[in-house]
Amino acid sequence: MNDSFRARLRALPDFPEDLPSFDPAAAPGDPVELFRLWLEGALAAGVRQPHAFSLATADAGGRVSSRMLILKDIDDDGGWQFATSRASRKGGELAQNPNAAMNFYWPELGRQIRVAGDVVHLSAEASAADWDARPASDGSPNPTWQLYALKPREIEFWQARADRHHIRHQMAF
Ligand SMILES: Cc1cc2nc3c(=O)[nH]c(=O)nc-3n(C[C@H](O)[C@H](O)[C@H](O)COP(=O)(O)O)c2cc1C
Repeated sequence: MNDSFRARLRALPDFPEDLPSFDPAAAPGDPVELFRLWLEGALAAGVRQPHAFSLATADAGGRVSSRMLILKDIDDDGGWQFATSRASRKGGELAQNPNAAMNFYWPELGRQIRVAGDVVHLSAEASAADWDARPASDGSPNPTWQLYALKPREIEFWQARADRHHIRHQMAF
């Protein structure tokens, strides 16, 4: 459609040359342990907001939407926690359809982590505590604020390689 724009996109830099190695056979078997290791590596490499991920949700008709969110915790029940308003689009979609998918991407390391499963609503107390812990919190409650946990059905750790033999480490539960 637009030759110069296409050329501009094609000329953009790819993954960096000095990518970290990743041997799934030597990695921790527990995906949460592996994620935490990778997160620390991302912080050490200067990745900004490595706890940011895109969350894809869908309404009852299967129409998909996505947006960026912040990971709040991975709890002892294996739930990957995030928080938002129940009155938001994603809040409405999650009420209709619990299926969701998270995607973390750290370009400096050529690493992507995909997590998909069902999302559950956590308690009003836990949601209020999350609201109160927000940096900009002025102490007034927000009754629509909701803490959610995604319970993984599948997780993939993906490592880019300079030779393009990218590594995919997949787990299903
Ligand atoms: C890096 C980043 C982190 C964000 N974190 C959150 C978050 O934790 N919770 C939230 O409700 N919105 C967060 N947002 C805003 C959402 O992306 C989105 O605009 C908003 O929640 C409305 O989404 P919806 O209309 O699809 O429900 C974040 C945006 C960015 C770019």
